[in-house]
Amino acid sequence: MKCSLGLEKCPDDTLRCFPKIEQPFGIVIFGASGDLTKRKLIPALNRLFEAGILPERFFVLGAARTKMDDKKFRSRFDANPDFLEHCSYISVDYQDPESFKQLKNTIETLMKRIDSNNLVFYLAVPPDLYIPILENLSKSGLNEKPARVVIEKPFGKDLESARRLEETLKKYFQEDQIFRIDHYLGKETVQNILVFRFANFIFEEIWNNKFVDHVQITMAEDIGVEHRAGYFENVGLLRDIFQNHMLQVLALIAMEPPSSFNGENFRNERVKLLRSIRPFPVEEMGNWIVRGQYGRGVVNGKEVPAYREEPGVDEDSNVETFVAMKLFIDNWRWSGVPFYLRAGKRLPRKITEVAVVFKKIPHSIFAGVPSDELEPNTIVFTLQPNEGISLEFQVKRPCPGMFPQLLSMDFRYEDYFGVKLPDAYERLLLDVILGDPTLFMRRDDLEVSWELLDPVLKAWENDPIRFSPHVYPAGTWGPREADLLIERDGRKWRKL
Ligand code: BG6
Repeated sequence: MKCSLGLEKCPDDTLRCFPKIEQPFGIVIFGASGDLTKRKLIPALNRLFEAGILPERFFVLGAARTKMDDKKFRSRFDANPDFLEHCSYISVDYQDPESFKQLKNTIETLMKRIDSNNLVFYLAVPPDLYIPILENLSKSGLNEKPARVVIEKPFGKDLESARRLEETLKKYFQEDQIFRIDHYLGKETVQNILVFRFANFIFEEIWNNKFVDHVQITMAEDIGVEHRAGYFENVGLLRDIFQNHMLQVLALIAMEPPSSFNGENFRNERVKLLRSIRPFPVEEMGNWIVRGQYGRGVVNGKEVPAYREEPGVDEDSNVETFVAMKLFIDNWRWSGVPFYLRAGKRLPRKITEVAVVFKKIPHSIFAGVPSDELEPNTIVFTLQPNEGISLEFQVKRPCPGMFPQLLSMDFRYEDYFGVKLPDAYERLLLDVILGDPTLFMRRDDLEVSWELLDPVLKAWENDPIRFSPHVYPAGTWGPREADLLIERDGRKWRKL
């Protein structure tokens, strides 16, 4: 089938399929001296530039507390020199309205130069700076439409602070100006969950509690906290991964079909699903959620320190680097089906996958092959790396007997399309510049996910001894308690 551009086959670089942005624009990045700007934002904008998607006239203005000039700012990035010509820098005191007046002057000069009022503010700063920045943007009149503001996670620290942030946002910006980014929604493979589910008839028919035994979602990373201790010590893995990426992926796997894939319909169904998750019983939290923290160990053949030995981490830190949980979705489709989720740092390897595990056959007709021992059919979405989908099923072994063997039929993006998948930030930055909110979180997405996780965070906080994280050696799949969480139900984590 031809795509909307009339192509039978995707070009090597699918970014080239995105339409060129016609309207000049400016993007102001707060937190421009930080990690996200260097690792994700500038490289993504640079790629969009190199793919010829950006208009002739645009600017990127970096803003942060650090003092430096344009030259020094540009020298921080490994980017196309022609792209860097569009980048400049201004030092800003986020708390000081005077400093925002200067910022405003600079922005006005740049806007005149590009002759456009299409402006984006990107808040790539720690969450405690969101409110002062939003307030100062408003005081200096920089919040006027069509300006848009992009907020990075974590959106607050708990339900209360998230609500405060939302109140501030609402005071100064209208909902269609606010883009709450969760980069997982920008991943091609995450969006493919929707196509797999809703462009195929046969799978949707079995996507329910009659056929599905359970679902497992794993987001494993081999890296540790790296140089982000300052951030991570205040956040922990539940807020860093579950409050956003994990719940959004879960929502896509489990939601009802929206009537169309547009901003509101799609977002309505996502939120409806999140609302159906059963609250965790605080008294028996340990049976539902396991907290872990990595100790010393070996990852990829290299000895690595314990979390508490990492630079910038408190030597008595109780912050979790691993979480495993079991949850239920209380609706017609999923009633009784457990969802097991786990994510962690310093696990044996980087892999993000969703496995939909179907029920076992009710009775085996093959002598010596009890139905119990036959591994069930499983559909696996490998979100990264080796992006693709697999279907696991039993086949007859080529021997005189009737012995089944599980094998996997695999589709890999790379083998089939042979293309480089666009990075999530490239896709999402384009959507922000074009003003398309479909792949962004809505206010109620956040509210629901905090409502679910807030009691967990409070329980951990109120009883730090009882809920102190179980230590697991770096390079293993988390603490033993995480295995027990699923084994108690007669199931096992997939071996990855
Ligand atoms: C970020 C988290 O949102 O996602 C990081 O803050 C994590 O801690 C990262 O490493 C993982 O993203 P990805 O795209 O590499 O799976």
